[in-house]
Amino acid sequence: MSKSNKTNNWVKKHSKDPFVKKSQNDKYRSRAAYKLKSINEKFDILKDVRCVVDLGCAPGSWLQVLQEYKNIREIIGIDVLDLDLIPGVHIYKQDIRDYESLDKIFIELNIVVDLVLSDIAPNITGISDIDQSNFSEIAVTIKDFCKSRLKVGGTMVMKYFLGSSFDETLNSLDNNFNKINVFKPTSSKKKSNEVYLICIDFKA
Ligand SMILES: C[S@@+](CC[C@H](N)C(=O)[O-])C[C@H]1O[C@@H](n2cnc3c(N)ncnc32)[C@H](O)[C@@H]1O
Repeated sequence: MSKSNKTNNWVKKHSKDPFVKKSQNDKYRSRAAYKLKSINEKFDILKDVRCVVDLGCAPGSWLQVLQEYKNIREIIGIDVLDLDLIPGVHIYKQDIRDYESLDKIFIELNIVVDLVLSDIAPNITGISDIDQSNFSEIAVTIKDFCKSRLKVGGTMVMKYFLGSSFDETLNSLDNNFNKINVFKPTSSKKKSNEVYLICIDFKA
């Protein structure tokens, strides 16, 4: 199939997607909003949270959902891409793998983080070994970020893709969190092997 036919098919499917339509009606920047909403419905992760960091936040629908919670006082979004500002949200253009720059941001902010979210999806090459190694690298980076910024007892939610590196990543996170749930929201496409790891009660 030619590239333009593939693009046309994607556009047709995307415009028929019920979550795309719903996100347009609800004025969310993407259908991803419903993934965070269903994670929260199931695990109540936003209750009693004051400060949240959203890694890989563009185009910003999770940030919009977070803003709906009055208990959340500080929202920090980080992405390699530019995104339109959201009033009251701190947004930084930054690759999270650049530890030094990320650290500088948080030294300046001087905050204690209750919840770390990551909806990061590294570019998928289609070559399983390379993709799994990229997912695993991001997971290690997020875990290191939690070690330096997440409060003890805090929560982390991370997108991951099922495959050969999954068990190793799960085992490694298991050392730092008391409970890990693997969850696939209904708005996550059935064909995609993405899941969310809901990591509860950070041990440091
Ligand atoms: C699926 S999107 C996130 C959607 C977002 N949750 C929302 O609700 O709008 C994944 C994002 O991760 C970002 N990303 C990928 N690798 C990254 C990295 N190393 N550092 C920071 N952001 C990254 C991408 O640029 C992309 O915007």
